[in-house]
Amino acid sequence: MEDKKFAIAPDGVDPALVPKRKLYTGAEMPAIGLGTFGSDRFSGEDIARAVKGAISVGYRHIDCASVYGNEHLIGEVLQEVMDAGIKREELFISSKLWNDMHGEGDVLIAVAKTLKDLRLDYLDIYYVHWPFPNYHPPGADPDFRDPNAKPYIHENFMKTWRQMERLVEAGLVRHIGTSNMTVPKLKLLLRDAKIKPACNQMELHPHFQQPELFKFVMDNGIVPVGFAPIGSPTRPDRDRTPEDTSPIEDPVILKIAKRLNVHPAVVCVKWAVQRGQVPIPFSIYRNEYLSNIEATIKDPLTDEEMKEIESIDRNCRLIKGQVFLWEGAKDWTDLWDIDGTIPTA
Ligand SMILES: NC(=O)c1ccc[n+]([C@@H]2O[C@H](COP(=O)([O-])OP(=O)(O)OC[C@H]3O[C@@H](n4cnc5c(N)ncnc54)[C@H](OP(=O)(O)O)[C@@H]3O)[C@@H](O)[C@H]2O)c1
Repeated sequence: MEDKKFAIAPDGVDPALVPKRKLYTGAEMPAIGLGTFGSDRFSGEDIARAVKGAISVGYRHIDCASVYGNEHLIGEVLQEVMDAGIKREELFISSKLWNDMHGEGDVLIAVAKTLKDLRLDYLDIYYVHWPFPNYHPPGADPDFRDPNAKPYIHENFMKTWRQMERLVEAGLVRHIGTSNMTVPKLKLLLRDAKIKPACNQMELHPHFQQPELFKFVMDNGIVPVGFAPIGSPTRPDRDRTPEDTSPIEDPVILKIAKRLNVHPAVVCVKWAVQRGQVPIPFSIYRNEYLSNIEATIKDPLTDEEMKEIESIDRNCRLIKGQVFLWEGAKDWTDLWDIDGTIPTA
């Protein structure tokens, strides 16, 4: 059969030009990915269309999760683009284990469903979405408390992680990763893991730079993947509080955006890539996802601008995870080991 070649849109970005990050296995991942969480605002069809559009403008890294409820639709697109000539090895596809599938035997069932939905025979990376099995029903309000929710229990997490390791050994996933972790939790995992995490997904934007966790993962050869890189302006209402600030309204970001004649969101993406994390901005709009990938290859920020952005960190966590709290927990800060210790029940 003749080798088909998938055509990049004339105004798209050649994927070969997009910067890459090396994982500790030697594998490479594109330094930007497309987020696929519709925040309860966008339909799965909208998002699948965006995935197709994003691939046609040069994205090769797509960040999925079973809880986003759209993997079956994204799978149709992946099949379509691979039928049109994109090779599986050109893509970097991630997914995440949801909180209700941490039990013994559940991880294999969960990944099998994701692979079937995405129409793939392996994932490039599979993350544990949150480091505990605390569950909240779709659309739950911020005060909802799962009566079975518990603080992080390392022994239980390791039971889940052992199942994740077996997926690597079975060839179903190339790498495994963590998400919404802290330094104390990662220290325990690195002490006990047979296969260490290749990436850690963490909230990262100019108003929430997490310098300590960022340095910790970099020092340990784990690639930081930054979610909510634009400050998640379309996040669900349950994830909003009056104290939240918005990086795309920050005067420093606005000033740089004016110099470059781009949307402030694009400045956030540039900062992320130049700092060394892998941003996974979400958008269903072509002009937005195209300008986000273009941000990785043109008009870099100056060293001075990078320093200015470093100085506007406000330690403002937007995705606080309050729906995962257990009975008796103080508040959302209990999820993040802020004083360096992991709370117990
Ligand atoms: N591991 C985890 O627990 C976790 C948690 C949260 C998110 N994630 C992942 O990270 C991804 C990104 O996070 P997110 O979706 O919350 O937030 P985000 O990427 O920071 O924000 C997305 C919003 O930014 C706006 N935007 C994007 N590009 C733009 C551009 N060039 N110009 C103007 N506006 C732009 C869009 O708003 P408009 O639609 O208004 O234009 C879009 O809805 C998610 O989709 C998901 O894949 C993972």
